[in-house]
Amino acid sequence: MQISDSSSRILAGLLEARTGQQLTMSRRWRIETALSALLRERGINTLDELITILVMGREPSLSQQVVEALLNNETYFFRDRAPFDLLSRYALPELAKRRHATKRIRIWSAGCSTGQEVYSLAMLFAEDPLTWQGWTIDVLGTDVSTACVDRARTGTYTQFEVQRGLGINQMIKWFEETPEGWRAVEALRKAPRFQVHNILEPAPHPSAFDIVLCRNVLLYLSPDKKTLAFERLAGAMAEDGWLMLGAGETVIGNTNKLGADINARGLYRLTGDGSTVEKRQGDRRSATGA
Ligand SMILES: C[S@@+](CC[C@H](N)C(=O)[O-])C[C@H]1O[C@@H](n2cnc3c(N)ncnc32)[C@H](O)[C@@H]1O
Repeated sequence: MQISDSSSRILAGLLEARTGQQLTMSRRWRIETALSALLRERGINTLDELITILVMGREPSLSQQVVEALLNNETYFFRDRAPFDLLSRYALPELAKRRHATKRIRIWSAGCSTGQEVYSLAMLFAEDPLTWQGWTIDVLGTDVSTACVDRARTGTYTQFEVQRGLGINQMIKWFEETPEGWRAVEALRKAPRFQVHNILEPAPHPSAFDIVLCRNVLLYLSPDKKTLAFERLAGAMAEDGWLMLGAGETVIGNTNKLGADINARGLYRLTGDGSTVEKRQGDRRSATGA
């Protein structure tokens, strides 16, 4: 199926306007593959015919479906592993001490796709009942894609999906086979909440999250949209909270509201006054003579 330059520009423009995601020239080959199932389902023969329907505005729900089909939803359980080890080894033990009085932890997975990241977090807590017994663990998963959020809410995955990132023991312990697929057990499904949300909009309420994960979401945002997204994420964090990005992503050059936590590579903290966290930590050390 061929797509004209003007049609691909219209689709790229629609995607960017709704989500901030840029479909650069080198990634426009994705359009045909991404939209082929939707075209079949809707009985539309060509991409140019699709554009005509979109431009005429006859089917408002179609434009949302097109945007969702163009998004990259790649995800799997415990993606990249190391970040989850960092949470278990450093951030969660630290929060167990800091939040001991309230026994409440709030986590936000922004751009959670079909929910594997959220259920991976739920497994971290469920696998350490001695520490977390009696605690309230709020895990919120959000995504701009309604289809992803609907799937995440079911907590149900295909055989292929459930095997990606999970060992056989974890799979059998935390998922049960149902006619619809492998469903997360009740104990895992009770903690997370999911909602549709665009990271370029004000943060979901209530915020002050102890940990915000926004992994593999910002890669294709323009620099100004990245800055806006970091402002939104920073605004949603507790004063002593952390932001975790995907491998190879960084705040550097995009915001001065967040800086690397020198104690934990891969986590970012609020800088407060726009100075770097490294500088504030250095200032604190020299003030205490450490
Ligand atoms: C590549 S997936 C990453 C999923 C998960 N965070 C991970 O690392 O495995 C990126 C997700 O971000 C979502 N996304 C893209 N732009 C978004 C936006 N502006 N607001 C919220 N979610 C967005 C996409 O729908 C997609 O599900």
